[in-house]
Amino acid sequence: MITLGIEGTAHTLGAGVVDSDKNILSNVIDMFVPAEGGLHPSEAANHHSDVVSSVIMTAAEEAGISLREVDLVSFSMGPGLGPCLRVAATAARSLSSRLGIPIMGVNHCIAHIEIGNATTGCGDPALLYASGGNTQVIAYSDGRYRIFGETQDVGIGNMLDKLGRELGLGFYAGPAIEKLARDGDKLLDLPYSVKGMDVAFSGIMTAALMLKKKGHRLEDIAYSIQETTFAMLTEVTERAMAHIGKDEVLLGGGVAQNKRLQEMVRIMAEDRGAKMFVPDRRLCVDNGAMIAWLGNIMYNSGIRMDIRDTAVRQRFRTDEVEVTWR
Ligand code: ATP
Ligand code: FE2
Repeated sequence: MITLGIEGTAHTLGAGVVDSDKNILSNVIDMFVPAEGGLHPSEAANHHSDVVSSVIMTAAEEAGISLREVDLVSFSMGPGLGPCLRVAATAARSLSSRLGIPIMGVNHCIAHIEIGNATTGCGDPALLYASGGNTQVIAYSDGRYRIFGETQDVGIGNMLDKLGRELGLGFYAGPAIEKLARDGDKLLDLPYSVKGMDVAFSGIMTAALMLKKKGHRLEDIAYSIQETTFAMLTEVTERAMAHIGKDEVLLGGGVAQNKRLQEMVRIMAEDRGAKMFVPDRRLCVDNGAMIAWLGNIMYNSGIRMDIRDTAVRQRFRTDEVEVTWR
């Protein structure tokens, strides 16, 4: 069975093709980069509308198939930015009706977990999902993927991007902060904000900007922000693993590409006799292949969706989905 997946929750419009044997036949990503300032949902949605047809055609071409050979179309139903979600949903609906094939709306966060499970060989992990808009620790328990901890304000990536903008590092600042942090060596004082199983980042960002005003080096600020926030993420992930007795930890989301975060989580995991798994970079970021893969396994588990059930859900929570495929 050939599934085409369309991703469009935030700044990335992606399309990917998978078969039922876990082969990723293509995975095309087109990311919107704002000329200046932050991400405006309607600007990102305009970008998505402009590129969605060509991204889908390229995904089919790279997979070596024609659209007629697609058996199922799936799309990211949420959570995400309304205008962006609607572009992906509209494209999926029109393909479904034009080709006469079934449609599946999927939860974006669960797609991150399932593509990790499928491609890294882990079986039953706790997922640390750290991206721009999302920061959650998720694990399977009793029929659902449950959220054991999450950010109480912004996603860690959005915080890094906003801080980066204020520090003049340009948009999508995570990689730039990682690079600067390698040359930092002074751990500056920042609020360590863990509340139970949850974390919060906005106070830390304000404090980091104060450090800049006080004249500290950017390298030391970048180093300190990484050490502090990644320690927070590692702590809540460890607590979730201990609480539910998982001996695997899976990373997902764009921030999970950060080598220092990977190192901290790996050391924590090894100390507990557990193992860490990190998906390939193009499967960590928002992408269509993971949407296709989740659509495929949901369909194979017997789930069916009508076009009338495909309204997008900006606040679609991970634990709302009944997991019927495990
Ligand atoms: P979602 O819709 O899942 O919230 P998203 O659209 O924000 O996701 P992703 O593609 O998963 O995006 O991740 C993008 C984020 O990852 C950006 O905030 C970016 O700064 C951050 N990022 C990318 N690489 C790194 C890195 N090496 N270190 C830290 N952060 C990074
Ligand atoms: Fe994501």
